[in-house]
Amino acid sequence: MFDVTTLMRGHIEDMPAYEPVQAFEQMARQLHCPVEKIIKLDANENPYGAHPAVGRALAALNGAHVYPDSGCTALREALAAAHGIPVENIIAGAGSDELIDLIMRLLVDPDDVILNCPPTFGMYAFDAGLYRARLVQVARRPDFSLDLEAIENAVAQEKPKILFLASPNNPDGSLIPAAAIERLLKLPVLVVLDEAYIEFAGAGRSFIGRVPEQDNLVVLRTFSKWAGLAGLRVGYGAFPAALAPHLWKVKQPYTVSVAASTAALVSLQHADELNQTGQRLVAERERLLAGLRQISYLSPLPSQANFILCKVEDRAALELKHSLAWMGILVRYFNQAGLKNFIRISVGRPQDTDALLEALRYVA
Ligand SMILES: Cc1ncc(COP(=O)(O)O)c(C=O)c1O
Repeated sequence: MFDVTTLMRGHIEDMPAYEPVQAFEQMARQLHCPVEKIIKLDANENPYGAHPAVGRALAALNGAHVYPDSGCTALREALAAAHGIPVENIIAGAGSDELIDLIMRLLVDPDDVILNCPPTFGMYAFDAGLYRARLVQVARRPDFSLDLEAIENAVAQEKPKILFLASPNNPDGSLIPAAAIERLLKLPVLVVLDEAYIEFAGAGRSFIGRVPEQDNLVVLRTFSKWAGLAGLRVGYGAFPAALAPHLWKVKQPYTVSVAASTAALVSLQHADELNQTGQRLVAERERLLAGLRQISYLSPLPSQANFILCKVEDRAALELKHSLAWMGILVRYFNQAGLKNFIRISVGRPQDTDALLEALRYVA
């Protein structure tokens, strides 16, 4: 018998699989609950969905038989105009996940160092494993702020190629202060600033406009959250002009489908209305926070994103997650270093907040 697994790249066997949230339909089946009854607050999706014009544009799509423009020209031009930066700095991808992968594909040889600041989004560590990078972890402080001195020391000692920072950070929702980002940009490292949730943090917070003048800054953005396009997979990044042409060389050409780029373009045309929906979510986030503060066994953290992280006190967070799931409410559970006994709740519609708070009071 030929053992085909002996053909695998050695390090993949020991690599843990990425743990995505469970598929919605599968969860609904397990809970014996129709999909439309489930309140899905586990993956920071936009409960209002895409702009209605996106649905109309997709229904009218007639170019599905033709390969997409590999350069995503129309979308990148619209993004360049929206952000006031040159189109040459922008690359679109199948979600910002693809762009994280692309950066490592271009820069990382085995044993190169990547600096990560956990607790944070899991994809940086996952891709580091895939490319056999050495991941140096500089933990965030207990209040989830960055330990700037420790990062500076780690850069001096470990000479990482890339520093990954999410702002607002997933899972706690804290924004990195502008002064801290400025300080880190002085370091001899490529700073990848992941702004997946920046639209919920207030106007003028993004660093994307800085990319053309800053040699070591990448800013990642996505249509998954504010534009409600998570299922279509479209994100983008602003990259230093010196790196962009090389990123194009290592990118698969057709990862952004005709449907995805159409939806993204239409979303940009309706950005004002989508931002209004974003403001509704921000207002709902504050109402949710106030409600969660009334739940005796939860310590919720203020957030600049579309989710709220809560430490669960005096009881098992996993049991709480399961109790909520049996009532048709899905939240994300964490129990790793720096996140022992936590749940993260995405901001939903007002009726979702009401149902969640009632369920939390019921299980008290
Ligand atoms: C911080 C952060 N970056 C990126 C992503 C992935 O975004 P996309 O859907 O564009 O791949 C997520 C998704 O949850 C996230 O939390």
